[in-house]
Order: sequence, then C-alpha cells, then structure tokens
Amino acid sequence: MPNVAFVSPKGGAGKTTAALLLALGLAERGLRVAMIDSDPNKPLVHWASLPNKPDLITVHPAPTPEDVRDALREGQRKRPDWVILDTEGSIRGAMFFTTMRLDLVVTPLAASQLEAIQAVKAAEMVAQFGPRGGRQVRHRCLLTRVPAAVRPRSVQKVVEQLRAEGVELLPTALIEKEAFRTLFDIGGDFAALERHGSHGLAAARVNAAAYLQAVLDTLALETAPVV
Ligand SMILES: Nc1ncnc2c1ncn2[C@@H]1O[C@H](COP(=O)(O)OP(=O)(O)OP(=O)(O)O)[C@@H](O)[C@H]1O
Ligand SMILES: [Mg+2]
Repeated sequence: MPNVAFVSPKGGAGKTTAALLLALGLAERGLRVAMIDSDPNKPLVHWASLPNKPDLITVHPAPTPEDVRDALREGQRKRPDWVILDTEGSIRGAMFFTTMRLDLVVTPLAASQLEAIQAVKAAEMVAQFGPRGGRQVRHRCLLTRVPAAVRPRSVQKVVEQLRAEGVELLPTALIEKEAFRTLFDIGGDFAALERHGSHGLAAARVNAAAYLQAVLDTLALETAPVV
C-alpha cells in the first residue's frame, strides 16, 4: 500500500490540488484511497463535504501530529489501497511528514526562483528527518500551474536550478487549469466537472492522467486501467 505525502514550507504551492488529483486518478481506476488532511484549514475535509465525492475516497482530518495515528486507524478500516497525506504550507505543517511511514514525498512548486528555494528546503528536510531504519524517503518536486500554451523560459530555469541542487523532479508538470480550481468549489471528480460544464476539461484530464502515471512510474507500479 503506497503512502504519499504532499509537503512544502511554502503556502499555496499546489499541494492540496496535486493530492486530490492523485486521489481522483486512483479512484477512477478502482482503487480505494484514504486521504489524511493535516491542514488546520481542512481543505480536503471541505471538498469531501461537497456533493459527488467518489465512494472510493475517504478523508480523515488530523489537525495535530497526535491526531495522525487516529486518522490513519480510521482510514485503515476502509482497507485503502493508497494513503495520501496533505499538509499545511508552513515549516510546522511540512514536519507532519515525519508522523507516517512514507514511500514518496512530493513537493509542488510554481516555476519561480523563490519557490524553487523553498522546494530545495523541503527536499533537505525530507533528507534530514525522513530516513527510518537507514532507509531514505523518496522525494520528488512537481512543477504546477505551468501555463498550458507556451513553456516560459522561467520553467527551464527552475528545472536547471533544482537539478543543480540535486533535487529530482516528476517528469510531468501540472498545468494551470481552471477545472482543477473548480473541483474545490463544486466538489466531486472529473465527471462532476463535466456535468458542471467546466472549460478545457479534456486537456485537464490528459494532464492529470500523465501526472498519475508519473507518480506510478516513480513508485515502479503498474497502471490499472480506468474502470
Ligand atoms: N494546476 C493548477 N491550476 C489552476 N489552479 C491551481 C493549480 N494548482 C493550484 N491551483 C490554485 O492555486 C491555489 C493554491 O493551490 P493549493 O490550495 O493546491 O495549494 P497548497 O499548497 O495546498 O496551499 P496551502 O499551503 O494553503 O495548503 C488554489 O486556489 C488552487 O485552486
Ligand atoms: Mg493545501
């Protein structure tokens, strides 16, 4: 059962969006996902309270590190295939990743030099506080909110900056898509967005699927077909 956390000391980097897109992609392929929402603002708890939440996804709040164990226990009752931890965008929030055994920590960032510095910090945090029993926790950065049409030079610059620091990137970036934002307003999944008449949904779906595949490849897992 893969355990994945979304971690960054930077607020608004795209953690919750990336966490939900991963969960939705997995659920679409028939997998059960338990999401632990350790952000005191509870964005995923809020999303789950909206209509059309897929039954395969459960969301469990854990506002303090002590709550994570209970949230995990509650999540395990549903026998999830995956556990996804979303954290608050602060140093304190980022440290929640130490409360779980993890297979992968993902740090989303927009393509700016400032965000890249924060992402390098996150990678260093994971390298410093992540190892258990001498085993390193896998860490990948994820570029998000990348403009769909043109790839600005800033993206290439940030990629080079991260590589120079020895930080690894997921091969797929999340593009800037209104549909990804709308998920948190209307709730549910891509089917709900379709019924809502969200703009640019086809491209959003292709991007989300490529991102899911990048995470599966990183964990060396086979892709299940869409059910
Ligand atoms: N790929 C994207 N396309 C469009 N909007 C996005 C995308 N990723 C994130 N956003 C928007 O950017 C804002 C911040 O994203 P998100 O909430 O996912 O970041 P976060 O890292 O979880 O923030 P926090 O640190 O506050 O928890 C939100 O309004 C979200 O809808
Ligand atoms: Mg968030």
